Amino acid sequence: MVKTSAAGFSRRRFMAGSAAVAAARLAWPEENRRLKVCVLGASGTVGNAIMREILNAGHHVIAISRSTDKLAKIRAEYAAKGVETLVGDVASDESAAALHAALHAQFGKPDGIVAALSSPAADRPMKVLGTPTDPLRRAFDTNFFTHVVAAKALIPELGAGGVYVGVNGGLPDFVLPGMANVTMTQSALRSLYLALAQEADESKVKVRMLGLFGLVATGERPAKNAQRSILDSDVGRRVLDILLHPAEFPGPILAIKARAYS
Ligand SMILES: NC(=O)c1ccc[n+]([C@@H]2O[C@H](COP(=O)([O-])OP(=O)(O)OC[C@H]3O[C@@H](n4cnc5c(N)ncnc54)[C@H](OP(=O)(O)O)[C@@H]3O)[C@@H](O)[C@H]2O)c1
Repeated sequence: MVKTSAAGFSRRRFMAGSAAVAAARLAWPEENRRLKVCVLGASGTVGNAIMREILNAGHHVIAISRSTDKLAKIRAEYAAKGVETLVGDVASDESAAALHAALHAQFGKPDGIVAALSSPAADRPMKVLGTPTDPLRRAFDTNFFTHVVAAKALIPELGAGGVYVGVNGGLPDFVLPGMANVTMTQSALRSLYLALAQEADESKVKVRMLGLFGLVATGERPAKNAQRSILDSDVGRRVLDILLHPAEFPGPILAIKARAYS
């Protein structure tokens, strides 16, 4: 008779235990998984809707903002849903490193991160010809490099299987007269997310970009033209679907289009 060593015995028990855990995971419907999602831009039009839909579905959200006042408002509105908040700024590598450290220390690894970042000031009309270069450069600082900085600081925080979703507009290939800045930053963002998806794949992190073709209508700001609008709740639910089932949205470039643009 072959004697079983203590090590062999515990290895067998461990394997049996692992198999039981794996079987339990298989039996556990994906929809019942409780995600921990960090939302950058949670105080904004789009990020707020994303946060709300993720919370409404019973998941856990860590809302990020540069403003303690905005975070207090978020806590007041979503306290019952169990939202957590964290002050953070992704304007520079230094501020993003501080955000990363605080996120890690207080909440551990998230399952997903959403970047719904923008600066309305940078979206005011700017032509290339006739606009000094500095305001154009600033548009890239606030509407493009914030995404670069956030991704560099936070994608490494996601473990294998983690999902990172960046939100973009729908004008990377179309210039609204006088708004070259918007098209330039949005096309740069699309390229950024293509590159990030490829690079993050090495660590099994899924990166997706969701382009919104149309104005986002909210309860406070209803659609003036339904054909050209997207409901904020549809955006939030789509982002949640992507976080839960990234394989069903291989992208990496995805879109929601208002009826007029589809
Ligand atoms: N709104 C629309 O109708 C619409 C339509 C199509 C596409 N989109 C796209 O959706 C995305 C979000 O737009 P939005 O309309 O929701 O913008 P928004 O309402 O102006 O919100 C932008 C958010 O970005 C955050 N943010 C900006 N700079 C930051 C920084 N340095 N560090 C941390 N957070 C920063 C702000 O947070 P704090 O100020 O709280 O720090 C704010 O919550 C953009 O890509 C935009 O192109 C929007």
